[in-house]
Amino acid sequence: MALKISVVGTGYLGATHAACMAELGFEVIGLDIDQAKIDSLALGELPFHEPGLPELLRKHVATGRLRFTTNYAEVADWADIHFIGVGTPQRADGHGADLRYVDAAVRELAQRIHGDALIVGKSTVPVGTARRLAGLIAAEAHPDANISLAWNPEFLREGFAVADTMTPDRLVIGTQDKASEGLLREVYAKALGADTPLIVTDFETAELVKVAANAFLATKISFINAFAEVTETIGGDITTLADALGHDARIGRKFLNAGVGFGGGCLPKDIRALQARVSELGLTHTMGFLAEVDEINLRRRERVARVTLAMFGDDLVGKKIAVLGVTFKPDSDDVRDSPALDIAVRLYNAGAEVSVFDPKGNKNAAARFPRLNYVDGLTEAVTEADAVLLLTEWAEFKALTPEDLEQLVASRRIIDGRNVLDSAAWETAGWEIVSMGRRYAPLDG
Ligand code: UGA
Repeated sequence: MALKISVVGTGYLGATHAACMAELGFEVIGLDIDQAKIDSLALGELPFHEPGLPELLRKHVATGRLRFTTNYAEVADWADIHFIGVGTPQRADGHGADLRYVDAAVRELAQRIHGDALIVGKSTVPVGTARRLAGLIAAEAHPDANISLAWNPEFLREGFAVADTMTPDRLVIGTQDKASEGLLREVYAKALGADTPLIVTDFETAELVKVAANAFLATKISFINAFAEVTETIGGDITTLADALGHDARIGRKFLNAGVGFGGGCLPKDIRALQARVSELGLTHTMGFLAEVDEINLRRRERVARVTLAMFGDDLVGKKIAVLGVTFKPDSDDVRDSPALDIAVRLYNAGAEVSVFDPKGNKNAAARFPRLNYVDGLTEAVTEADAVLLLTEWAEFKALTPEDLEQLVASRRIIDGRNVLDSAAWETAGWEIVSMGRRYAPLDG
């Protein structure tokens, strides 16, 4: 009989995992405490943007293989395996991860399960959490329950969530018993059949793989952005430098794109939570370099704001700035810790009139910063603009040519925050173009 799977937490991670599990042939129930989210998912409507996921959701809601509920008792009674995909945001009072949702999910299940069950953590957690949760389960479980715990971190990227879940580049399972490993091998049989590397390890290693991966990616981005600061000062071209570095297979070209830096719901909070956790362990210097990684990253936003000010003699009052892209990366509607939104707000605070257009992100950005002028199209955003800022590399912005904009703008100034435009072509067409990692004269003085 097919395994019955529950997924607790139906945000980005959980909704994707639930739909993909249904696609793999399992009976799935998704649980969330947010009734509105559950109502929308149950109708086959995805409350966020992720290419390919709405189709999967609709397909399996229609077949009945994928259901949604807010009822823990129903889930605890029904499923054999419970995946935990709730959020672990940054704590309001510090850099550590807020574990209240993970703890609550595990406790709610542990108190209701009878018989055999496996709880599988997928949320990103500080090292040591799984071992602590195993203790919590033991303390809260009914005498007739036999609940195992495994940790199975998730490495999906927004924008590629379905592909990353269906064909992951590796599977990591932290476990204390062979039976849990066996069940997870059954869940992931398709990927394992396609020779996906499987790492079976202890809880701590499984937890650390996830945060180490994100810390490494963040470090790589800040590494190239630190060199961008150098080439911005002395001259040189950061893209050429990255290309040349990338030919060394030990380094690789990926995640060496200089620009406005990283954002989103994962990289920034994960490097902060890792520092906080390691400090708690008494290793106060060990992850100190991640503080630098964070600072280099935040300086990118500052620089774009400073360059924009410098273009107008440090006075933005009455200037119209068009901001193209407000999400933290393309093919997403996520504006959490978005460099683009941060820059737009800085310019607004400096007195500019800021027009924002993003193909998917306007609504979420407006919910956070309603005062920016959100418009429905590129033309409206750039019309009469004194400067255009390309801050998220959506395909339609990457394809822009000087001819597309020159009749619309008030003056030909553009900042390419993602180094995706052909700067020579824009210069030839009479534009002042500022790319990342290239010298910009007005800052010299
Ligand atoms: C990241 C990881 O890549 C996933 O493997 C991980 O599962 C996920 O976090 C998570 O922890 O859930 P994601 O947040 O979707 O995924 O975004 P990335 O594609 O990693 O991009 C992060 C940020 O770095 C974006 O703002 C992007 O614009 C920026 N970036 C990326 C650069 O500035 N330069 C680059 O070369 C690459």
